[in-house]
Amino acid sequence: MKVGIIGCGAIANIITTSIVPEDNDINIAYFFDKDIERAENLASLAGGVAVLNFDDMLKDVDLILECAAPVSVKEYAPKVLEHGIDMIVMSIGALMDNEFYKELESLAKKHNAKIHLPSGAIVGLDGIKAVAKFGLEEVTLTTKKSPKSLGKDIDTEEVLFEGKASEAVKKFPLNINVAATISLACQKDIDVKIIVDPKVDRNVHEIVAKGDFGVFKTRTENLPCEANPKTSMLAALSAIRLLKSFNETICVGM
Ligand SMILES: NC(=O)c1ccc[n+]([C@@H]2O[C@H](COP(=O)([O-])OP(=O)(O)OC[C@H]3O[C@@H](n4cnc5c(N)ncnc54)[C@H](O)[C@@H]3O)[C@@H](O)[C@H]2O)c1
Repeated sequence: MKVGIIGCGAIANIITTSIVPEDNDINIAYFFDKDIERAENLASLAGGVAVLNFDDMLKDVDLILECAAPVSVKEYAPKVLEHGIDMIVMSIGALMDNEFYKELESLAKKHNAKIHLPSGAIVGLDGIKAVAKFGLEEVTLTTKKSPKSLGKDIDTEEVLFEGKASEAVKKFPLNINVAATISLACQKDIDVKIIVDPKVDRNVHEIVAKGDFGVFKTRTENLPCEANPKTSMLAALSAIRLLKSFNETICVGM
């Protein structure tokens, strides 16, 4: 499988340096970034090609992996899908725009392409998907991050946001993709609380789901990526797992 990457930052670096060609024939071949130097650096590390023009890689890939920014999904995803090319999208917040979601869904259907949204920086999506249509009454996400991760300069704990996921992704587009992932998994605009806490050095996500099935709670304490403290290591690892799963015969826990 030949892969092209949009966005050569923290996630792309971890994925590219962790995947070897023996990994189910995954060949990360093309690198695109609005900062060409970043694309060139990663391409030379991986023995791939940096492209100046995004369209150039569409002729020769089976899958595009987006790990840039929500705005890049709006910019490039329609074109990728029109070429019948599958996508992995990391900037999942972009899909909270309902009209855009429907546009991508219909383009993907028309051109026989698939859009994959990895579980990212949280655990428990398998359970949420399982109960989504079986009496799921309430889902909440509480996210706690360090001031550095949220770009704040404060020394006491503070609630930065309380409201719906659709609002959270607008206010914190690069920080709260997990709220979008959960909402899309259960088709509910879930309740989100974002806390900045100078005592934490991890990105902490707590999910509580309640309904006819009972209750479940998950808590993830993620180490941030060195290159980008907003981003959790687990997010990159979830994309690596997804990439490797495409050629597996027995898929566990999907
Ligand atoms: N799904 C999840 O759970 C999850 C978790 C963490 C991060 N993310 C998201 O994944 C994306 C990448 O994260 P990261 O930590 O690697 O970010 P990063 O800032 O380290 O790297 C992003 C790269 O994309 C490039 N870029 C930005 N906009 C672009 C555009 N319009 N066209 C081309 N290149 C562009 C930047 O120059 C940069 O090199 C972000 O949107 C982030 O919010 C998702």
